[in-house]
Amino acid sequence: MGQRLSGEWRGWRAAAEEALYGADGFYRRPEGPAAHFRTSVHASPLFAAAVARLLCLLDEALGRPAELTFVDMAAGRGELVAGVLDALPGDVAARTRACAVEVAGRPPNLDPGIEWLAEPPEKITGLLFANEWLDNVPVEVAEADADGVPRLVLVRRDGTERLGEPVTGTDAAWLERWWPLSAEGARAEIGAPRDSAWAAAVATVERGLAVAVDYAHRAEARPPFGTLTGFRAGRECAPVPDGSCDITAHVALDACALPGARLLTQRDALRALGITGARPPLTLASTDPTAYVRALAHAGAAAELTAPGGLGDFGWLLQPVGVPEAALAGLEGS
Ligand SMILES: C[S@@+](CC[C@H](N)C(=O)[O-])C[C@H]1O[C@@H](n2cnc3c(N)ncnc32)[C@H](O)[C@@H]1O
Repeated sequence: MGQRLSGEWRGWRAAAEEALYGADGFYRRPEGPAAHFRTSVHASPLFAAAVARLLCLLDEALGRPAELTFVDMAAGRGELVAGVLDALPGDVAARTRACAVEVAGRPPNLDPGIEWLAEPPEKITGLLFANEWLDNVPVEVAEADADGVPRLVLVRRDGTERLGEPVTGTDAAWLERWWPLSAEGARAEIGAPRDSAWAAAVATVERGLAVAVDYAHRAEARPPFGTLTGFRAGRECAPVPDGSCDITAHVALDACALPGARLLTQRDALRALGITGARPPLTLASTDPTAYVRALAHAGAAAELTAPGGLGDFGWLLQPVGVPEAALAGLEGS
């Protein structure tokens, strides 16, 4: 223990696992993620309304099953699942089994109709939705040395780093395939554990759709020095694996994608689900001022959720399972 406190060298995966999810980990703290950063879920109820709309489209495609499951994967304090339930039409809500999957404990005052689970339920018919989960699945960090050889980055509890052994095995194969490194000092986050975590989550869907939404990058434009960073009390900070801050890195969503997946931006996904940042006509201000103000607030929230350089650039990975192509028509991606 003394050794760990004073500075055992470990790979970033083990260090972040303990810092985020260990007994005193950041995500087990009582204040919850919303005290430290703002996700689309916190930004506006329009986000939950759009997810509810997606669930309704899927419900139709699935032939309106007797039980339609909605899984809020990595649910934080259950804000999304509660918002989706609120936004669903009564007849769909009545058939919906609502589940939150979280490492942290059930929050007080959550709708008792929402199941609070440590793992996603098996064999669901419905929608598994993971907003900002995969960026918090801990990964190793690699850095190319002077000879261009990718080495594991080791870290101490205070955040100091040094290079370790060359990357080998599955991690080396992942780097080679998805994020090759050669220039000295170039860094990458090795996404293999995220690919596995996503595949396991998708495997719980028997019929329906799994969606991962996150900060993302693609093979043609990986960030040359990686994206590992921290967040504490609303501000970005150095990633220090001592349990005091979030530790996050953008997600190689293209590597997570399984056959049949679609990748699109949040901007395109939300527009397809009816969320646009269009301002109301000025004439409404004189004919119905209250409606104008409401529409203006709606447009402002929609603009934040779809903003270039912000939440609008997030990636949506859609993974249909046993639903006809036509069901997702309109959600065009590449
Ligand atoms: C960035 S927060 C996102 C919370 C929420 N989805 C939102 O968008 O506001 C990430 C959450 O994922 C949870 N988490 C991470 N890995 C998990 C896992 N394997 N199973 C369940 N929850 C997990 C964390 O505890 C944390 O609450």
